[in-house]
Amino acid sequence: MKGLILSGGKGTRMRPITHTAAKQLLPVANKPILYYGVEALIDAGIKEIGIIISPETGEDVKGCVGNGDRWGIRVEYILQAEPAGLAHAVKTAQDFLGDDPFVMYLGDNLIKDGVGPLVERFQKGSADAFILLKEVENPSSFGVAVLDEKGGIVVLEEKPAQPKSNLALVGVYLFNKEIHKAISLIKPSRRGELEITDAIQKLIDIGHKVDSHILRSWWLDTGKKDDMLEANRVVLDEMVDVNIAGSIDEGSRVSGRVAIGKGTQLKNCTVRGPAVIGEDCILENSYVGPFTSIGDRARVSFAEIEHCILREDCKITDFHGRIADSLIGVNVELTRGDNRPVAYRLMLGDDSKVEVV
Ligand code: TTP
Repeated sequence: MKGLILSGGKGTRMRPITHTAAKQLLPVANKPILYYGVEALIDAGIKEIGIIISPETGEDVKGCVGNGDRWGIRVEYILQAEPAGLAHAVKTAQDFLGDDPFVMYLGDNLIKDGVGPLVERFQKGSADAFILLKEVENPSSFGVAVLDEKGGIVVLEEKPAQPKSNLALVGVYLFNKEIHKAISLIKPSRRGELEITDAIQKLIDIGHKVDSHILRSWWLDTGKKDDMLEANRVVLDEMVDVNIAGSIDEGSRVSGRVAIGKGTQLKNCTVRGPAVIGEDCILENSYVGPFTSIGDRARVSFAEIEHCILREDCKITDFHGRIADSLIGVNVELTRGDNRPVAYRLMLGDDSKVEVV
């Protein structure tokens, strides 16, 4: 069994952050989203992973993930010249995949329970493809499946205007070699992409068996800012243990599940978990509230920060205000000219400089 992680694409819904960074490398609880996918595949016993990359962000993805040595596996990179669809990505990876069965994992997705049990079920069963489904409130934003009374798939539709079901396709799929034939038989959709939903529908149409499983635990698709914040909230809520490596002065209070990296200093601060603060940060006279992740080397003074992701090297200084529900890129400088109480909700791309007066 091989793994194929899709980490190309354009990330248009996450601009301006994705003008300078791959969306799959954005941190959730201070760890790149992509690592969650790699680790889920490794936990399922997969030792060979191909990662689809784009010309724009491919080098960054390679630099961040490396050749797999750190996990004792092999990682290969496959360049997709254009984001021409999920099925196009599989087609591009055909040499890497050969005739092997594989798990396809969308690099901006997170699922709670991992993929081990699904791989086992797929290997034991007789289906040629296995999809995961999840009930959602806004099915028209997703690929949607209609099932019969026995749970068999009747039809799949990509982002239907009038959805016939509320079961969305989750970004994890299991295939055997039959999918390559199905992909060779489909044409680009109206939006010009080779759709994986069309390829799976084609598999069904030519008489292959597609099995499905409805997920009850959480699944997060981090396509937009609020999805990222929700992923950060859910992961911090479930995964952070107390781990204080930095220094906390007498005037500071830390409560709940909080991780503070080595070299970080807290001076006269209150931190309420769940929260993670990276390494070599300096926080002074500030409040960090629940569901906040702060990247390495950040500087924060006279600020209240809650339910936020602050990336590495951010400087939020002499702010005298509250920042909530915000995603702030690498190396952003944010300061304020007065100290009237205020609150902001921000999405700031890397290297932004903002002075609020
Ligand atoms: P999407 O979120 O559907 O597409 P996108 O990343 O281009 O984002 P946006 O809609 O905001 O422009 O892609 C899901 C995942 O699959 C994501 O990790 C990117 C990846 N992908 C590819 O690797 N190749 C592709 O051709 C496409 C469409 C997506």
